[in-house]
Amino acid sequence: MLVDGYGREVSYLRLSVTDRCNLNCFYCRSGQELDYLAHENILSYEEMVALARAARALRVEKLRLTGGEPFARRDFLAFLGLLRENCPDLDVRITTNATLLGGKAAAVKHLGVRRINISMDTLDPARFREITGRDMLDRVLAAIDECLALHLRVKINVVAMKGVNDSELPAFVRLACDKPVDVRFIEFMPIGAATRWNDAATWTAREIVARAGEMVRLTPVERHSRAEGPARLYTIAGGRGRLGVISPLSDHFCKSCNRLRVTSDGRLRTCLFSDKEYRLRPALRHPHLGLERVVDIMRRALRTKPLGHELLEMRRRAQVCDRVMSSIGG
Ligand code: 5AD
Repeated sequence: MLVDGYGREVSYLRLSVTDRCNLNCFYCRSGQELDYLAHENILSYEEMVALARAARALRVEKLRLTGGEPFARRDFLAFLGLLRENCPDLDVRITTNATLLGGKAAAVKHLGVRRINISMDTLDPARFREITGRDMLDRVLAAIDECLALHLRVKINVVAMKGVNDSELPAFVRLACDKPVDVRFIEFMPIGAATRWNDAATWTAREIVARAGEMVRLTPVERHSRAEGPARLYTIAGGRGRLGVISPLSDHFCKSCNRLRVTSDGRLRTCLFSDKEYRLRPALRHPHLGLERVVDIMRRALRTKPLGHELLEMRRRAQVCDRVMSSIGG
């Protein structure tokens, strides 16, 4: 079992399979022209499988594949197959923008994935173009329906940004009423040097729940443990889905953080907001070191997993971290 220096059991690994993305959301990539990692610096799928096996040996139960955009990496479905073969009891999940998911959901399900998180910050096609730089909202909506028809569990992540999508709260509440999905608003976090985050864009979880509560009757879902995830969820009277808020800014959840992150070039991060990284790639690529070395680095890294962060305090001093979100994977 992986236990950190503060007794937190770490059972959840987020792995960014690529830093590339076909969208250019300003809150994630800061709207910059970014250099992508060179192909040889990205872990091969075989190396990623070895990493998953090391994590499994440490009793990591959940592996979330993120990006960039995971479906933008060639042969991503084949990678899911490799994972299934090598780590059959690992609970593999995916976070995607869903623009490349259409037509693949059945295969994804067949390969053992049951839960998909879809990033979708607006229900308005023109605004979608403004946020992402692409005209693809219809593809995302179709992919959501495709997943639901297959009974995949779908969560929709909405980055909550005042002045950008706060006018759409009623539309998102309606979506959560009409479809069996969790619609979760994530407070906009100031990540990366060139973030457009500012105080005026802050739309807090508290405000979101209060306003939604004026539209529908919300009942908090009791949580058995924080390991269930950072979202506070509400059922909606008469609705098929649920509403949720994730509040890294206004009420952070570091005390119960059970996750590690690995970037696509094989750097282990113990906290989203800390740039301290542990290089796993040399160990994964080394012809003789084997998994034990990888396991060893993971254990050592965990001892320094920070207890918490003060996002707003850090923000006042400088940006929160150097990496943009698209290279960490959320
Ligand atoms: N603030 C909040 N959420 C963000 N995400 C990406 N960048 C940010 C940010 N700056 C979200 C994505 C994705 C999730 C993993 O993180 O939309 O759904």
